[in-house]
Amino acid sequence: MVKIAVIPGDGIGKEVMVEALKVLEQLKQDDPTLQIETTIFPWSSDYYMQHGTMMPKDALTILRNYDAILFGAIGDARVPDDVTVWEFIMPIRKQFQQYVNFRPVKTLQGIASPLVNGREIDMVIFRENTEGEYSNSGGHIYHNQPQEMAIQNTIMTRLGVEKIVQAACDYACKYGKSKITSATKSNAIIHSMKFWDEHTKHIVEKASPTLTLESIYIDALVAYFVERPQDFEVVVASNLFGDILSDLGSAIVGGLGLSPSANLNPEKEFPSMFEPVHGSAPNIAGKGIANPIAQIWSLGLLLGHVGRADAEKRVVSAIEAVLKEGAVKTADIGGQATTSQMGDAICQALVNIRQTAGGV
Ligand code: NAI
Ligand code: MG
Repeated sequence: MVKIAVIPGDGIGKEVMVEALKVLEQLKQDDPTLQIETTIFPWSSDYYMQHGTMMPKDALTILRNYDAILFGAIGDARVPDDVTVWEFIMPIRKQFQQYVNFRPVKTLQGIASPLVNGREIDMVIFRENTEGEYSNSGGHIYHNQPQEMAIQNTIMTRLGVEKIVQAACDYACKYGKSKITSATKSNAIIHSMKFWDEHTKHIVEKASPTLTLESIYIDALVAYFVERPQDFEVVVASNLFGDILSDLGSAIVGGLGLSPSANLNPEKEFPSMFEPVHGSAPNIAGKGIANPIAQIWSLGLLLGHVGRADAEKRVVSAIEAVLKEGAVKTADIGGQATTSQMGDAICQALVNIRQTAGGV
């Protein structure tokens, strides 16, 4: 039995999670060998308003007992964003050594991307997820005085850089990719980014003689993502650069509503966490119009991670079938369907796939 901790969170996180759980039920109905047990945790900004913390003190001890975490999104106007992020997402990612943030960026049939024009975009972003620019090292002193100052330190460790680059190389070798693109800025950020470049080069050279490495300055790289996105296969980036590149990656294939992500602890020593790239989208929360595909696809990635690549494949095929048919589309991709209609359409596509495959 695979045990999944489910944390819907805030805003549209709660709405899209309902659809992901619906899809999971359908998958289980179609295939009794898929033995998955879910436990829902209410940790969110609502929880914070009641208890003064985003999650209980022993939350990580509780989560440690699960095989994986399916997370929606957090962010609520009543709680400062740095509190929601640093009391919730960061402790999970850092304590559970989820140092790979894996973000696929892929053209989908039926989705009109502003850039696709018949070209196929199929890349994966490996974002370092536990250190780098997202550190709590620094300080803010002399408040309200002329000499007021703030310092924010970037922390890059050799082990941290080596592990994320190694994970990108392992993926490239496994899936027959030949090029690693590294996002850098070592011309201006001369300590940490030169260090990043040096260890990236070393790991890629050691990984395989067939892999080539291109290091591109982040400012140029964002322009290339727009001009020639089809040229990229595996992109490896620090925490901040990877965060920015993956929202851009989502946008060039059709929007945040479609993009899944995985916070992976590749050694499986701790549970990994699966969540959409998007946030809680307060501007559309409560309206029932959010696109649940990113959340459902994140469930797919989770299933692949817990050893059910077959179920992941079915989820992705069902999403692709619905988008290709084009009858059910949420507003973000040019339609009028509700969140729940999109979830239902994906469940129906799963049934169709099962029937075509000769099942009952
Ligand atoms: P956001 O991703 O929530 O929204 C950006 C834009 O994309 C909005 O116009 C929104 O309506 C749209 N959008 C996002 N997901 C969508 C979906 N599934 N279907 C249709 N449209 C969708 O980012 P934003 O506005 O910067 O942040 C809102 C809140 O979310 C903030 O509190 C922020 O801190 C939090 N956040 C949380 C994340 C997480 O939980 N991992 C990640 C990013 C932001
Ligand atoms: Mg982001």
